Amino acid sequence: MAGRIPQEFIDQLLDRTDIYELINSRVTLKRAGRDYQARCPFHDEKSPSFTVSPVKNFYHCFGCGAHGNAIGFLMEYDRLEFLDAVEELAKAAGMTVPREASERQDGLGLVYDVLKRVQKLYQRQLKDSPEAVAYLKQRGISGDVAKTYALGFAPDAWDTLAASIGGDRAGMEALDKAGLVTERQSGGYYDKFRNRIMFPIHDGRGRPVAFGGRVFRGDDGPKYMNSPETVLFHKGRQLYGLYQARQANSRLERLIVVEGYMDVIALAQAGITETVATLGTATTTEHAEILFRSAPEVVFCFDGDRAGRKAALRAMESVMPRLRDGRQVRFQFLPEGEDPDSLVRSQGAEEFINQLERATPLSEFFFAHYQAQVDMQSLDGRARLVEMCRPKLSQVPDGAFRDMMFEELSHRAQSQAVLGPHGAVSVPMPRAAGQRSQPSLVRRAVTILLHYPRLAMDLGDVSPLLALERRGVPLLVELVQWCQLNPGASFARLLEHWRDRPEQVYLEKLAAPGLLGDRDPRDDLEPGEENTPSDEVHDEFIDAISRLRRQADRQRMAELESRVAQVGMTGLSEDEKSEWRALQSRRQ
Ligand code: UTP
Ligand code: MN
Repeated sequence: MAGRIPQEFIDQLLDRTDIYELINSRVTLKRAGRDYQARCPFHDEKSPSFTVSPVKNFYHCFGCGAHGNAIGFLMEYDRLEFLDAVEELAKAAGMTVPREASERQDGLGLVYDVLKRVQKLYQRQLKDSPEAVAYLKQRGISGDVAKTYALGFAPDAWDTLAASIGGDRAGMEALDKAGLVTERQSGGYYDKFRNRIMFPIHDGRGRPVAFGGRVFRGDDGPKYMNSPETVLFHKGRQLYGLYQARQANSRLERLIVVEGYMDVIALAQAGITETVATLGTATTTEHAEILFRSAPEVVFCFDGDRAGRKAALRAMESVMPRLRDGRQVRFQFLPEGEDPDSLVRSQGAEEFINQLERATPLSEFFFAHYQAQVDMQSLDGRARLVEMCRPKLSQVPDGAFRDMMFEELSHRAQSQAVLGPHGAVSVPMPRAAGQRSQPSLVRRAVTILLHYPRLAMDLGDVSPLLALERRGVPLLVELVQWCQLNPGASFARLLEHWRDRPEQVYLEKLAAPGLLGDRDPRDDLEPGEENTPSDEVHDEFIDAISRLRRQADRQRMAELESRVAQVGMTGLSEDEKSEWRALQSRRQ
């Protein structure tokens, strides 16, 4: 396809595009020398190996090998076709894609054209059908909203489209590719949608790519019929009403996801223009990504019955791998027998939004769902809870939300390290067979450090971590400081330092050989022998410490902010002020 757009134009386009700006508006980049870095958006990773080079006009991930220029990035990240990515960049750069390279030649242009003409035809037919208009009026839909959503009417005939649009062979083929006609056994085609109110489904650029049609008189076939999947229409990636929601709001703070076409339209009619619907399918991970790229908060609005709960569960599973920090999800369950359309009409927009704002946060729905399946009174039940939740939570991308969910889990399961009967510390989180457990960050850092005490040498001052009032942190800090003061000391000496303290047993346990490779840190090294961690373990350790540092920073910042709220900036001591400035600068 690339060949049809002059290479010269592509080159100019890439020259004019700032790849840093393009990518940074989607993935937050941090400066690293002449380049920029981030955790790769194309695979899950803990430390950033995704690099953007403005000089080379190129991105590259050392982890998964993803690489390319601005066009490639848009194709991958926004899931655009090549031509759409080019159009998008051209628009941003104020350039026009040369026409000779139009989509017309690959046949898709014709399919788009035909869909647009069909949409217009159905809209005209609606005006000419008093019965169809009366139906929409009776459902409270105004002419304006009907126009915004380009509602139409497919007449009660077999050949409306064939007669007026599929005049020649190419036209007929385009109608077929658009999924609007069905081929007869005897040859020829007939219209798929007949005698229905028509709801065009638009892509991100407002082009109709498919239709839904509702019966409104007689009872011919199912209530709704939808276009089949076509070259332009993939249900799992399409959200009904998204184009209109974006048009109506220059910045979407929130998107409401409902089940039906009419729900989107009734809410728009009531002035709530931030609504989309999945098209009679479960929410997919692709939907989740599209939703979050449009708005930071998503509220799923489902029936309160079993089917609705099941849909919510599916939605939850689809969004979890996409729940980066800053993204939020709530669930609103509607009373039996109601849908957003009926509710907004009975109680009004304001009350509808009020309730929405009190909807259940994902974290609550998550734990409520799993806790309902176990006996929280018994240890076995709580162990089962951990077992069920852990793999789900592991899908959440790294960040504060993920950490907090794991903390909440261990809190609920009461399975954090607790003092055992003999003053010894008993640690275990139950572990399902064959599954890697997710011990707390702190415990993991302690374990690694016991195996490779040298790692402490690069850490600098770790005392700020003490701001985190979290179990195990004082021990970790003491351990790091001890290792820094006693380079090369044996494990036996290390343990000596903790003799007769409750942590001693805990440390011995975490130093067990199976926990981290085969090496037993209790065996002393031969002179000259080096015990170095694998890259993976090294990175995990550094990452754990820096995450703890960030959490400690956040915590200190919150404390100082609440001090400032009480006594004002001038009320802070000199020490507090300089700490405040240091925290601010680290936040950049
Ligand atoms: P609903 O039956 O809740 O639709 O189905 P609705 O939008 O509230 O319709 P009204 O109020 O009766 O007019 C929810 C969605 O499920 C899909 C459609 O996308 C519909 O909007 N559906 C439903 C179908 O695809 N086929 C059907 O037969 C029914
Ligand atoms: Mn309805």
